[in-house]
Formats: sequence, structure tokens, C-alpha cells
Amino acid sequence: MTIYLDNAASSCPKPPEVIKAVDECLREYCANPGRGAHRIAVAAARIIYRSREKAAKLLGAEDSANIIFTQNATDALNLAMYGLLGPGDHVVSTTVEHNAVIRPLWVLAQSGVEVFLVASDNAGRIEPGDVIGALKPETRLVVLTHASNVTGAIQPVEEIAAALAERDVPLLVDAAQSAGSIAYDLRETPIGMIACTGHKSLMGPQGIGFLYISPEIELLSIRQGGTGTRSEVSQDELARPDRYEPGTLNTPGIAGLGAGIDFIMEAGPESLAAHKDQLAVELYDGLDAIAGVDLYGPGAGQQRGPLLSFNVGELPPSSVAATLDREYDIASRAGLHCAPGAHDAMGTRGRGAVRLSIGPFNTREDIQATVKAVAEIGAGAR
Ligand code: ALA
Repeated sequence: MTIYLDNAASSCPKPPEVIKAVDECLREYCANPGRGAHRIAVAAARIIYRSREKAAKLLGAEDSANIIFTQNATDALNLAMYGLLGPGDHVVSTTVEHNAVIRPLWVLAQSGVEVFLVASDNAGRIEPGDVIGALKPETRLVVLTHASNVTGAIQPVEEIAAALAERDVPLLVDAAQSAGSIAYDLRETPIGMIACTGHKSLMGPQGIGFLYISPEIELLSIRQGGTGTRSEVSQDELARPDRYEPGTLNTPGIAGLGAGIDFIMEAGPESLAAHKDQLAVELYDGLDAIAGVDLYGPGAGQQRGPLLSFNVGELPPSSVAATLDREYDIASRAGLHCAPGAHDAMGTRGRGAVRLSIGPFNTREDIQATVKAVAEIGAGAR
């Protein structure tokens, strides 16, 4: 059986409950939610409402109307940045962001938004003082990934959020790698917007994500269309969530996301995270002991997400990943991982790296077999 260690790209396999929820939705509630008053449309709308409530509870958000369903974290980040920023605004982000942040910022910079990127250390970690020091009177937003998909660095989001709240500058957190792995509680930590995807640690299907928007933040809608509500007014006159959700929603994806959140909550987010962290330590220690293997990101004993990027001698990362796949049936991801700045920090921009990322269904045996495989690949390269 495949040893799947590409969970940072998409978690796999999905819990049976998630598959059941998508299947049930497609069989039983496949009408258009919010567009008709018949029983099947109402049942579809109810599924959406329930999943919205679950997403709100996951983040500690009081009102689920502030949860906006999107396609994924990228879509949520686009809504947040394009909906908020305009010419003359200043935005602070970091050099180690994923392209889901960096590419919209490039485009916004061309339309007169001033962008400042705080540099990380070589493990991809950001100093809170550098973020606060970069603020200007015109700063309208700080955008920060919580957990790097490449280095594994976890940023001090709580500390930065508290410092920004004192200065009245909203924080947008890219939670693509953290939602479902790191707990959020908006009642304790004031975060303006959180962009989440459903298909990673939330264990849902692909094609569904959400954006939490604090009630204090007003975004312009960046897409307009039918919502099934107040058809006579313009998009920006609509209340949340309809204002930001034009077009028919991904009801099967939302049903699956709700089941994914249930899975996380029932298993206990802390116990899932502890399991993955323990395997990450074993993976780190195992790979660290292999001659010729270079590990990147936070070192032994330092806080990291459950993933590890590395290279083997002079071998191209793509050939290591291909050998892992073909000869050992181990799924990894090689390359720049859509985050070239993170590779700058690690010194691997020109070459890329191999990444192994752990999910809740991985076992110690998976890690031991993977360490053995990498050792054999390394020995063969010498
Ligand atoms: N951003 C995802 C990854 O790191 C797709 O693989």
C-alpha cells in the first residue's frame, strides 16, 4: 500500500465519514441551496448552514455569517486582499509566503498598493518586531502564513495579532497548512481574517475553503452574481455571507468539509497534532542520521509543522521523489512548492527540495520505511 507523505498538498486518504457526506449530498440533497423553497433545496441549504456553523465553532467565531465559503485558501486570500486593498494603501507581508499571497500582492503593487516584505531567518521564521517595525500610518493590512508549507516554520501569530490589535491594523492569516492542526480561538486572539482550505488538515474534499472576516472589516465583493436573495439590489448591498458568495455553492464540498471538521473535533485536534508531531520528530531524527542528507527549516527540538524538506547529496529532488514513488511506493512532493521565497530562505531556490508531509493516518512504520528508503537512495548516490 502506498505510504502517503504528501499531506501538505492534500490530505489522503479522506475519512470514511467525509466520503459518506459527499455521497449523501450528491444522492439526496443535490438541489440548489437557497434558490428554491422545496424540500430538497431546503435540505441542501441546511447542510450549508450546519457546515458554516461548524467552521465558525472551529475558529471560535461568534457569528457564522462571517464565514464565507470559497474554493480554497487561495480564493479566500484573493477575496481578502482584493476586497480590502486599494491604491495608496500599504501592506506588510513576508518573503516566505506561498504564491497564494505573493502573486496577488505583485498584481496589487502594480495598481498602486505599496508592498513591504519582512525577511525571515534561514528556517523561514519571522520576528514579530520586524513586522511591527514595518508598519506605517498607511498600513491597511498585514498578511502572514501561519505554518510554512516548505520550511515547516510556525509563525508567532498570537504575538503578532495582539501587537497589531493594539495598533488597529488587521491581520490576515493564511491558514492553509494550519487550520485543523493549530487551534484558533478568536475570542482569545483577535485575527481580522483567516483563510482556510478544506482539503488539507481539515480532511475535506478539494475545491472548498473559507474565509473568516471579522465584523469590523468591510470588504468589497470581488465577484458578483446571483445569490437567490434580494435580487433587486447590488452585490455590495447584500448582507454576509451572500455578499461574498455569488453563484451556486459547492454543496457536496461543503457537506464533506463539515464532516471533515467533525472528524477533527471528534478525534481531538490536540491528539491528532501530537500524533503528527511525534512522527515528524521521528522522521527528522531518522533522516538527520543519514550521511549526505541535508535537512532544512527549524532544527532538532525546535517547533515545526509536521513536514520536512530535504535533499540527498547532489541528487535532483525530482529524481529522489520519483525513486520514492516508483521503487518504494512513497508519495512525496519535490520542487519549489509554490513558495520560491521559502526556498530562498533555505538556500534551495536554484534546486528545490523533496518534501515529506505527515497526516493523521500515517504510522511509525510509514516513517521507518521512509527513512530506510531515503538511506538506500543516499547510499546508491555515493
Ligand atoms: N500548497 C500546497 C503544497 O504545499 C499545494 O503542496
